[in-house]
Amino acid sequence: MQTEAARYAAEIDQNGYAVLERYIAPEVLQQGRSFIEQQVVAHAGEYFAIHGIEALGGTIIAALALSSPFKEMMRDLYRIQAGRDPAPTEQIFPVIRCLQGRTGLKQSHFYHFDATVVTALLPLHIPTEGKHCGDLILFPNLRGIRFNALRNVIEKAVLHNTLSQKLVAFAVRRGWLKPIRLKLVPGNLYLFSGYRSLHANDVCDPKLLRATALFHFGNPHHDSLLARLLLGANKRKAKLDHNGLRPTGPQPIPEATESALRDGGDLPVIAHGADIDDPQLAGLAHALERQV
Ligand SMILES: [Fe+2]
Repeated sequence: MQTEAARYAAEIDQNGYAVLERYIAPEVLQQGRSFIEQQVVAHAGEYFAIHGIEALGGTIIAALALSSPFKEMMRDLYRIQAGRDPAPTEQIFPVIRCLQGRTGLKQSHFYHFDATVVTALLPLHIPTEGKHCGDLILFPNLRGIRFNALRNVIEKAVLHNTLSQKLVAFAVRRGWLKPIRLKLVPGNLYLFSGYRSLHANDVCDPKLLRATALFHFGNPHHDSLLARLLLGANKRKAKLDHNGLRPTGPQPIPEATESALRDGGDLPVIAHGADIDDPQLAGLAHALERQV
């Protein structure tokens, strides 16, 4: 008999996404919305994002990221899509994004590939009036899963740079490209392969609130130092380690890292959660990776 994860994986391969309708109960959705509403006040009606299990502690988002059935489903999806087991220490990385106000406008049509294979999106607040409701836009399964970190970095640099993002955004707005557009429904869970699919959100009316929880899982380059250095800007910005947790080890020595990279020597051991203080590396990392 086909498992649930196998069915969702087949839908993702065939249609680009899978939807689990009414994935959370209305009262649980309400709890998530209450948290968002408190944060909206704290952020004065402008765009914000909250990254990681610790920053979201005590919320339904953290509870879901830690729940065994949800983790098992994400792990199974990774196994099926990647054809191998995920790293044993890997955790689900949750993120909340709230588009609102003038700053929220800048967050639309930012086309990218995720660093992780499996992406689950749980809408909490979605505008229902007007043209601009922040639909999810997907070009599904455009690329394969790369286990070679260098190849992944090069491929992302080519497919996923500022110029290509602007060109795709322009072509979508003009109607020259026809991606999948999903009208999101709060409480449903949307599954897709963020690693393989170019995706972004459509414009959201600045007077309205669009709040979503994202769950990322399954980094094929989990153990790659190169990928740690060049990718994962959100975790770095939030000062989190590779598993999305607060680092407990010693802090990095950026000069040594830079010198090792320049000289082609052995890289020093870098603490999880290392910040890249070198502006060139940080700029490259920013250009290569931004999760939505
Ligand atoms: Fe994304």
